[in-house]
Amino acid sequence: MKKVFIASIIIAAFISCNKKSTLEEVDVPQATSTTTTSETTSNPNDVKANEGAFKMLGLNYGYADLEPYMDAKTVETHYAKHHVGYTNNLNEAVKGTELESKSIEEILIGIDGKDSFLRNNAGGYYNHNIFWEILGPKKGGKPTGKAAELITRDFGSYDAFKEQFKKAGTGVFGSGWAWLIMTDNGALKIITTANQDNPLMGFQEIKGYPILNLDVWEHAYYLKYTNKRAEYIDNYFKLIDWDKVNYRIDLHRK
Ligand SMILES: [Fe+2]
Repeated sequence: MKKVFIASIIIAAFISCNKKSTLEEVDVPQATSTTTTSETTSNPNDVKANEGAFKMLGLNYGYADLEPYMDAKTVETHYAKHHVGYTNNLNEAVKGTELESKSIEEILIGIDGKDSFLRNNAGGYYNHNIFWEILGPKKGGKPTGKAAELITRDFGSYDAFKEQFKKAGTGVFGSGWAWLIMTDNGALKIITTANQDNPLMGFQEIKGYPILNLDVWEHAYYLKYTNKRAEYIDNYFKLIDWDKVNYRIDLHRK
């Protein structure tokens, strides 16, 4: 679009400066972008939450870099609207309280399930941090390192893991998340949570440390996939950054 605009300016200048000349037809450069669903110009790392204890952590990629599996418009809206919204609300919830100086993990472990505002927004902040962290452009493929070893040990194979994880994700009724967690005895387990709950929250029946997660809220896929959540999940596997998953495993084991 920029090139067309520049070409228009040049033509307009030519007309105004040389009205008696004969105009020659010029080729309008074609756009070279491969982004078909949307074009974004903003930088995710410019996105800031309102002042408060918790910050947006940025993305390791641009909004369009997860295409064709996640479209730029969805990633931008998801990060710069939904995720920021949770973060702003979390900052509001902890402002002036003892929670302000705690880490997000400490807040989640000790959270009161009846405090739905804090529960939804602390969960929304943390869950999305992990989601963005473990995705990346040109990733996917089979797990590597410790993740490969543990997935084979606890699920039999990566294909068996994918099948169970997809079944869990498609089976979430309404909005929620699918998780791969490490339980206290070191075993990997697949669980789901509703809304913005997560497996660190003290009141959860099955608790554990989140190794990777999948957002199955409609805001995560509906623009591109409409009601085809299963297709979204198939393509999610093509974005998992196993180095980041291994980093999370190491983080927990230290
Ligand atoms: Fe989300």
